[in-house]
Amino acid sequence: MTEKIKVGVLFGGMSSEKEVSLNSGRNVYDNLDRDRFDPLPVFMDAEAGLWILPWKLVSQNTTVDIIERLRGEAERIAFEDLRDRIDVVFIALHGKYGDDGCIQGLLEILRIPYTGSGVLASALGMDKHVQQRLLRESGIRVPRSMTVSEEEWSRDRRQTEKKLADSFGFPLVTKPLREGSSVGVTIVRDPESLADGIESAFTWDRTVLVEEYLEGAEFSSIVIDEDDGPRPLAVTEIQPRSAFFTYDDKYMPGMCRKFTPPKSIPGRAVEIIKKEVVRAYRSLGFRCYARIDGFYLDSGEVVITDPNSSSGMAPSSFFFEQAAEAGLFPSDIISRLIDISLVVHGAKRGPL
Ligand SMILES: Nc1ncnc2c1ncn2[C@@H]1O[C@H](COP(=O)(O)OP(=O)(O)OP(=O)(O)O)[C@@H](O)[C@H]1O
Ligand SMILES: [Mg+2]
Repeated sequence: MTEKIKVGVLFGGMSSEKEVSLNSGRNVYDNLDRDRFDPLPVFMDAEAGLWILPWKLVSQNTTVDIIERLRGEAERIAFEDLRDRIDVVFIALHGKYGDDGCIQGLLEILRIPYTGSGVLASALGMDKHVQQRLLRESGIRVPRSMTVSEEEWSRDRRQTEKKLADSFGFPLVTKPLREGSSVGVTIVRDPESLADGIESAFTWDRTVLVEEYLEGAEFSSIVIDEDDGPRPLAVTEIQPRSAFFTYDDKYMPGMCRKFTPPKSIPGRAVEIIKKEVVRAYRSLGFRCYARIDGFYLDSGEVVITDPNSSSGMAPSSFFFEQAAEAGLFPSDIISRLIDISLVVHGAKRGPL
């Protein structure tokens, strides 16, 4: 009998998305194929401390509930000891320090293979301005956008507001440069609300990205590395209940409708979307898998708005919905990610 692969499922973390990560992590942990893998739940607390959790803590409602019970019930583990306990890390962290290249860099130094993209591609998946520049360079349509730094905003707020209003009109969109789960995103509908939009994004980053407002059908596609190159699992059309795809729409049961395959996007356009998401995946150097979001505009154009190096992995996520569409059980697709990662890390020369 071959030995089982020891998988550390890493979740929690230090970002605004730690609760989302808890839902992803425990779902991955529950669905790991026990015939092939030996799973270990590894919780990252708010100070980056790592803890191996007993199952009853994995099933707690919030990260705070877990943190209160860590001492006494969980096992603290130092970064450098991780390698003795696991063969590969399944990264179920989201957001800052989790899918932006930071944890990837740490795991590279520790010489532990991990799921998902490497250091640079993860950082690119997080930085909404740099990713747009690279995609634009590859001929991929992205929203028109401008950055506003904290310095510029505090130096001449009136002038900045005028520049943005002249460039984009209203509505326009303000978002933190590097966040996820729609945290800090505002659709600004009039000049009076512009400062609020900008300042709410500054809560999360020192640079704000301002974008033209896109009108059309929103979509999301999980792209997976196959033996013959990256391929989309499927395309999902999103119909949010709110004015846009907010945090609550993403995670509250029943808040938003998702259609896999799309309902209102014509079949021909879906084929174009599939090509564009793969082009975006390649342009940013994603590996293993990624989730690429965009809009199919009323004008018929396909725009890539949000290439992400990771995906939520709760039961209702795009990830499992699209896997099901492709005929894969949660355990199948999770196994697939681990297998791909081991191949990718086995073949690398230096950090991924
Ligand atoms: N330019 C735009 N025009 C219209 N709506 C937009 C635009 N940019 C973002 N949105 C809306 O805001 C939502 C969140 O924006 P975005 O995808 O950039 O944020 P995110 O925090 O990276 O989300 P994710 O959780 O998908 O990583 C989008 O799903 C979409 O509904
Ligand atoms: Mg995103």
